Formats: sequence, structure tokens, C-alpha cells
Amino acid sequence: MFVIKKNISLKRHNTFGIDVSTNYYAKANTVEKVLYAINFASYNKVPIYILGGGSNILLTKDFDGVIINPAIQGITLMEDMPEDVVLRAGAGVNWDTFVDYCVERGLGGVENLSNIPGNVGAAPIQNIGAYGVEAKDTIVKIEGIQIDSRKVVELNNSECRFDYRDSVFKQELKGKFVVTYVWFKLSKNAVLQTNYGNLDDELSRLGERTLRTVRQAVINIRTAKLPDPNIIGNAGSFFKNPIVEISQFNAIKLKYPNVPSYPVSESFVKIPAGWLIEQCGWKGKQVGNCGVHANQALVIVNYGNSTGAEILNFAQSIQKSVEQTFSVKLEMEVNVL
Ligand code: EPU
Repeated sequence: MFVIKKNISLKRHNTFGIDVSTNYYAKANTVEKVLYAINFASYNKVPIYILGGGSNILLTKDFDGVIINPAIQGITLMEDMPEDVVLRAGAGVNWDTFVDYCVERGLGGVENLSNIPGNVGAAPIQNIGAYGVEAKDTIVKIEGIQIDSRKVVELNNSECRFDYRDSVFKQELKGKFVVTYVWFKLSKNAVLQTNYGNLDDELSRLGERTLRTVRQAVINIRTAKLPDPNIIGNAGSFFKNPIVEISQFNAIKLKYPNVPSYPVSESFVKIPAGWLIEQCGWKGKQVGNCGVHANQALVIVNYGNSTGAEILNFAQSIQKSVEQTFSVKLEMEVNVL
């Protein structure tokens, strides 16, 4: 029997560890159960929120509706070609379990995305990315449910309109779509991508250059910089790295010759938000129950008892300070509910 739980705390369901509650919580491990939960919400005339691993969300108040957790499991081999394979993974598969599955079978494409918290179903939503690789590089298509029509549909890679930490699921389809399965194409002859930051140095330290060592190197770098959400509440990068016009970048560079940047196009560059935040003096700073992580200024941490509103307020102070100093607007990467 499928049970939709009533009045439950979401503290264990978000990596910030914010203690708010929801009227209803539906852990749905089949497409039919997701559909059932959608119908339940519409029958009770309450809103729906889709919550995967809860690793990219800031909850600011109790939710008066149905939280649906798409918990569909399973990784299936759909196509086996001479050079590549196509795998179909359930939205509820833990992302890093999926990465490990690929690496252990010699399948390349997602190894740089090791150790990212959250589930497979969330990977396409914000097009997760790290160390020069993005989820969009391996995603073939998405299976999901259109909430309004209850139709089960498929979107191919271009229909997902992936961009830096963005997709159609954060734009037109925001709140209107549930990802149920993601199809990935992985390579049997992986070309390792090791030119981001200090990945290459870490690999040299580890010796061999294989899928396994790339995964290990990424895990080592991430663990050194990013706080473990099991120990200290956080949702990874709180802001996106801003993309600015070259003219604005040059103006910043005049005053700060060491400003780091990544090329985006002929007219735009990306500046690491962590650098901007650090220059404004926030790195390692604690205000009340929250603060900026000491090893990576892009991460806001909950020291224990913070409310979502307190963290939001703190984040807005950081935005203001970066805007005053650099005239750059920082956009939040986490979803605020
Ligand atoms: N930097 C600082 N101070 C800091 C942090 C960063 O000066 O406190 C500067 C340094 O110049 C550093 C550069 O920023 O070399 C880049 O830092 P890092 O490699 O840590 O990456 P990031 O740009 O801060 C992005 C992603 C991360 C991802 C890393 C690695 C976004 C919003 N974040 O961070 O993703 O792991 O690159 O690829 O694009 C996440 O999304 O939750 C996440 C952790």
C-alpha cells in the first residue's frame, strides 16, 4: 500500500538541516505512485513541491501541500554499442552511486561529477557541473510527468535547453514537471578531462590516470574544500558564478589585477563568486547561526540552529556587499522555498 505521510518534519530531508514541516510527504518509488501523489494534491487542492535529495534547497517556512520525493530506483543498460553504452537511471538513485556504478564498469563521462550530493533526478534540473564537466554532456533524454496533464513524456537533450546551472526545468517547466528517469550515454573509451584547476596536480600525486583515479582526485579536492552536509548543514555553492561583460571585467581588473576568470564567449567572462565574496571579507565569517565556509567562500553553512529566513537574510547581505564593491549581482544557485 502507498502511504502519504502527514505532518512530518523536513529536517532530515534537506542538507541545510532546516527544521520546517510539510502537511504531506509522498515517497514515490514508481511512476504510478508519483501520479497518485499528484492526483492526491489536486483532489485536496494543495500545491506540490518535488524534492529529491534536498541538497540544493533552502526551506524558509512550513509547506502547506504535498512534497513528492521521486524515489524511483534502478540502473538499466538500454544500449550496448562498440564505443558507448546508454544507461537509464531512476530519479531516486543517489547521484554518487550512479557515478560509482559507471566508473567501476569502465564507463566514462561522469567521473568528474563524483561526490556531488543529491539524486539522479535533480542532475538535469540545474545541470550539475564540476571540474569542467556538466551533466548535459552525457544526458541523452529525460522521462517525466507533466503535472497539469498527468502525461508521461520524453524530452531530448536539446529540448532540455541546458545552460550553466540552468535548464527548461528551472524556466518554463518550473514546478510543472517531475523527472522520473534520466538516460545517459557513457563512453567505453573515456577521454579523461583533467585540465580544471588543480585536478591535474592531484592526479599526478595519485600516480595513475584512470577513471578511478580521476574520481578519487575529485573526491579528495571536494572533501578538502567543501563541508560534509552530514556534519555541517549546507547546500554546496549558494550562488552561481556571475557572467559579466568583458568591459566590466576589465574595470574590475584595473583595481584587482589578480581577479580570476573563465572565458564564456567573445564578450563575456565568468568570475568565481567565491573570489568576489572573499574580497568582501566574508570568508570564514559567522553571523548568528550561519556563516561562510572557511575553505570555500561560495558555501553558506548552518552552524546548527539556523532558520531558513536567517540564512536567506545572511545571503542577501552578501549579495548587497558584492554589489556595492564590484557592481556585480550574485544570483542564488539554491532554490528557495
Ligand atoms: N575562489 C576564491 N575564494 C574562495 C573560493 C574560490 O578566491 O573562497 C576562486 C579561486 O580563484 C578558485 C576559483 O575561485 O581558483 C574557483 O574555485 P573552485 O574551483 O572551488 O570552484 P567554484 O567556481 O567556486 C564551481 C562550482 C562548484 C564546483 C566547482 C568545481 C558553481 C556555482 N560552483 O565552484 O559546484 O564543484 O566549480 O568545478 O559553479 C555546487 O554547485 O554546489 C558546487 C560545489
